[in-house]
Amino acid sequence: MTFTIRRVVVIGSGTMGGGIAAHFANARVPVYLLDISQKIVAASLDRLKKSKPPAFFTAETAELVTIGNLDDNASWISEGDWIIEAIIEELQPKRDLMARIDRLRKPDSIVSSNTSGLPISKIALKPYFLGTHFFNPPRYMKLLEVIPTSETDPKITEFVRDFAERKLGKGVVICKDTPNFIANRMASIIGAMLVDFVLEHGYTIEETDAIVGPLIGRPKTAAFRLQDLVGLDVSSSVARNLYDLIPSDPAREVLRSPRVEALRKRQMDRGRLGDKSGQGFYKKGGKAIETLDLETGEYRARREPEIPSIAEANKIKNLPERLHFVLQQDDKAGALARHVVYNSLAYAAQRIPEITDDIENVDRAMRWGFSHEMGPFELWDALGVRATAEAMKKYGVNVPAWVFDKKSFYPSVPKAERRIVRENKGASLIDIGDGVLQLEFHTKMNTLDEDVRSMIVQSVEELEKGAWVGMVIGNDGADFSVGANLAGGFASNGSEALNRGVKAMQDALMAIRFCSKPIVAAPFGRTLGGGAEIAMAAARIVAAAETYMGLVEVGVGLVPGAGGCKELIRRVVSPAIRQTPNADPLPFVQNVLQTIGAAKISTSADEARSFGFLTDADRIVMNRDHLLAEAKEEVLELAAHGYTAPPREKNCYAAGRDVLAALKAGIYVMQQGAYMSEYDAVISSKLASILCGGDLSSGQWADEQFFLDREREAFVALCREPKTVERIQFMLANGKPLRN
Ligand code: NAI
Repeated sequence: MTFTIRRVVVIGSGTMGGGIAAHFANARVPVYLLDISQKIVAASLDRLKKSKPPAFFTAETAELVTIGNLDDNASWISEGDWIIEAIIEELQPKRDLMARIDRLRKPDSIVSSNTSGLPISKIALKPYFLGTHFFNPPRYMKLLEVIPTSETDPKITEFVRDFAERKLGKGVVICKDTPNFIANRMASIIGAMLVDFVLEHGYTIEETDAIVGPLIGRPKTAAFRLQDLVGLDVSSSVARNLYDLIPSDPAREVLRSPRVEALRKRQMDRGRLGDKSGQGFYKKGGKAIETLDLETGEYRARREPEIPSIAEANKIKNLPERLHFVLQQDDKAGALARHVVYNSLAYAAQRIPEITDDIENVDRAMRWGFSHEMGPFELWDALGVRATAEAMKKYGVNVPAWVFDKKSFYPSVPKAERRIVRENKGASLIDIGDGVLQLEFHTKMNTLDEDVRSMIVQSVEELEKGAWVGMVIGNDGADFSVGANLAGGFASNGSEALNRGVKAMQDALMAIRFCSKPIVAAPFGRTLGGGAEIAMAAARIVAAAETYMGLVEVGVGLVPGAGGCKELIRRVVSPAIRQTPNADPLPFVQNVLQTIGAAKISTSADEARSFGFLTDADRIVMNRDHLLAEAKEEVLELAAHGYTAPPREKNCYAAGRDVLAALKAGIYVMQQGAYMSEYDAVISSKLASILCGGDLSSGQWADEQFFLDREREAFVALCREPKTVERIQFMLANGKPLRN
């Protein structure tokens, strides 16, 4: 049996159903979204279109979702290749809906239920049915728990896993049908243990969040901030349901801790549910954020935690080393960390094999579902299994006997050989097999500096002279590259030196562009300024779906200086004029002026394509974990099809002075209308001049260097301007642009 998902039907258009529908649309699967009434479903779609962060990749993506109601449009269910139920968390309505779906579905369709923790086998037992537990928001959260029942056809489980990984970009964990599955089971119990300890020992909310966040390898939302995001009503009902479902789990008693229950009740009675009700454990009071005082139950101004070991620990970059240090501390940080970490590790071990046979599933669930830096078993391995188990025993937590037989949870597999071909402080050139090289940046946030530039040049030289097939530019950091390193002080160089520096960067990128072997860039996350320019210099872009790309130089008082302007002219304006030689270039150049002038950053790779950063030939990969492999494939594919360097020709259209005059008039109007500052107008005029090729008397074709020379000239001139210097300094100090 093979499956093809041509159409999905999602029933229940709330938080989850809406988000799931949007994400299938992102994967280009048409969706019918149904709810009990047209009014509800229309409001849901409206909310989805406005959601922040955006649920859809682009505004147009929403057109793939067709809304309807179960009275008039139930027959649509028969068109679904996959029908996903995401209605309220109650057994009987879900069962009733399943019976209805069963009557209407077409024979080869797949049906799944989205539930936080209801037993999947109580909802339905059919070969075509299984549970799919997406996390909120479905577009952004990596984890998808897939729960087959005893009756589910294994081929369907495998198909759903593969589809979710490749097409939806998820990290799939196959779960047993046990209460709350893996991630929420762990989080509910550990969360309750944490709050119980905090209340017993009189921690403040600030102290708690400072200790159980990044300090111990968990996200910034830590404990109480996360609670406000989830909503106290939701977590309370999950806790209540869970208690009854796990009678033989002794740890469940903490779910009924009188201290925790009293706090919950007090907060719920006052409608302090969290972000959704405007107040929870934190409250936005005027400009500042106030904190709940756990003793008085009233909000008060933020009180910084006074625990010196936290700052000491934060100096240690490596998580296991940092955690080791925290666990040794004889203070409030040490005490809470010991309680949370020892209990988390022990609870994870106690639940094997009940919730899963495979410890890796627990680690993945906690990393992908709750953004923990390491899962419990990975962390335990890194801290030392035996020594930590002994410490835990001494502390009084119950460590299962089987743990003491282990030296480590994961056999130490030697890391796949990464043969370094060349390396400096900012970047490495690595042999990744099959004749393909990888150029990897590793500066802070992958900013671009002289080391990176030099490695680009060396890499292309190596590629040209060696028996290499091609090269991937990509890395495994948090972002592809946030652009030039402003802290390097390049802008304070003398004009001559600055000019040489910019020219050297341009030359490095032109070496990428005109290399005789295929170079594929693999951007993801933030791909800004020079990062975007590098990506566009490559023969092909293979981008992760979550790529936030933009030429943001204007924000620091500059213009793109290493080919950003030239590339958008080549990608947006030139093809239009080539196809229709008499066309008016103005709207196309205007479009580019807006993209760069407003420092637009795409909210997805799809949107980056609509801005012109990606061409039709560039590819988008949904799963970030597959990105480098896909980019390597692309290199091999291009090489196999006889890749040659692009010809050096007059391939960029310079629109000339009439178009420039029109653009300048527009800039004047914007400035007069106070839509841009006087200095923005200065920068925009320079930008417009680059984009039009200066003061040419008529439109004409020019080569790439022609545009690069104009970019460089404007870039160097702007660096001399006091307001640009101010913008750069402000960005370095505050991490956001100054509009002076
Ligand atoms: P919600 O309350 O936001 O939305 C439920 C939607 O289902 C509403 O639009 C409602 O009108 C509709 N609905 C209710 N009964 C219906 C019926 N009989 N037929 C058709 N539509 C019906 O709920 P939410 O948060 O989207 O949750 C949906 C499911 O996903 C629940 O089972 C929940 O436990 C689960 N879940 C929720 C998560 C969350 O963070 N909100 C996370 C993971 C799973």
